[in-house]
Amino acid sequence: SRHLLGIKDLTSEDLQLILETAANFKEVINRPIKKVPSLRDITIANVFFENSTRTKLSFELAEKRLSADVVNFSSSNSSVKKGESLVDTVNNILSMKVDMVVMRHSSPGAPHFLSRNVKANIINAGDGTHEHPTQALLDSFSIQEKLGDVAGKKVAIIGDILHSRVALSNIFCLQKLGAEVMVCGPITLLPKHIASLGVKVELDVKKALQWCDVANVLRIQLERQQIKYFPSMREYSLYYGIDKAMLDELDKEIVIMHPGPINRGVELNSDVADSEQSIILHQVENGVAVRMAVLYLLAGAN
Ligand code: CP
Repeated sequence: SRHLLGIKDLTSEDLQLILETAANFKEVINRPIKKVPSLRDITIANVFFENSTRTKLSFELAEKRLSADVVNFSSSNSSVKKGESLVDTVNNILSMKVDMVVMRHSSPGAPHFLSRNVKANIINAGDGTHEHPTQALLDSFSIQEKLGDVAGKKVAIIGDILHSRVALSNIFCLQKLGAEVMVCGPITLLPKHIASLGVKVELDVKKALQWCDVANVLRIQLERQQIKYFPSMREYSLYYGIDKAMLDELDKEIVIMHPGPINRGVELNSDVADSEQSIILHQVENGVAVRMAVLYLLAGAN
C-alpha cells in the first residue's frame, strides 16, 4: 500500500518486514553518523491537529535521519483557526511539492478520508480513539528486543481501553505477531464488544499482572470523554494504579510498558515507571527506528 492507515490492514509478513527494517535502522542511528541519504529527494509534512510530544518529534527525527526535507504544521497556530478545511489545508501544503503526509487528528477515520481525497502517501500518527499504528509497531519492536520474540508472549493492556487508539492498534499487531492479548480495566472503560476481537477480558488488575509477561499500561484519556465516566482519576488510582509492592507479590518479573504521557501516581507509581522492569524510555528510543522503517518502505512503494 502507499499509505499506513492502521495495523488492521497489514499482514503478519508486512509487520515482520517493518520490524526487520527497523532493526537495521536502529543499528544505523547508533553509529556516530546517524544519517543515511535514502529519502533525500522526498519532502514530508508532519500535520498535527492534536497535541503530541513523542510521535511528532520522533517522526521529525526519523525523517531527518533519512535525509528528507521536513515541514511541520500544527493546526493550533494555523489558518484552520480561520475556518480552512482539512482537505484544503493538506492540498495547499501538497502544492508546495510535498510527497508524504504524517497526520494526527482527533477524528477517527480522518487519515482514511484524506488518503481518498489528496495525492500523497498518508501515514496515520493517531486518529482519535481509532488507531495509532506506529505506536503498536514500536511497542512490538520493544517487546521483541526485550524478550526475543512477540509470538507466544502474554501481553495485558491495562487502563482506559474504550478511548485508546494505542489499545486497538496493539491488539491487532500483537495478535498478528502471535501473542496472547488480555485487556484489563474498569468495566465502564472497556468497549462493549471487545471480547469479539479475541482478547481475554479481566477486571482485576492483580489477576492481569499475574497472568502476563508484559503489562502495557495506559492513561485515562479525559480529553476524549464526552461524559464524565466512572471512575474518577482518584478512584482509578485506588483500584487500578500499579505500584512496586504489587509487582513484588508476583511469582515472576514482568515487563512494564507505557506509551506516554504518564500520569504519575494515577496508573503507574514512579517506583514502577522508573524501575528496572520498565522499558518505557526504550519504547521512545525505538520509535525513531520504527518510523524510519515505515517512511522508507512507503517511499519505496511509490
Ligand atoms: N505515545 C504518544 O503518542 O505520545 P504523544 O501523544 O506525546 O505523541
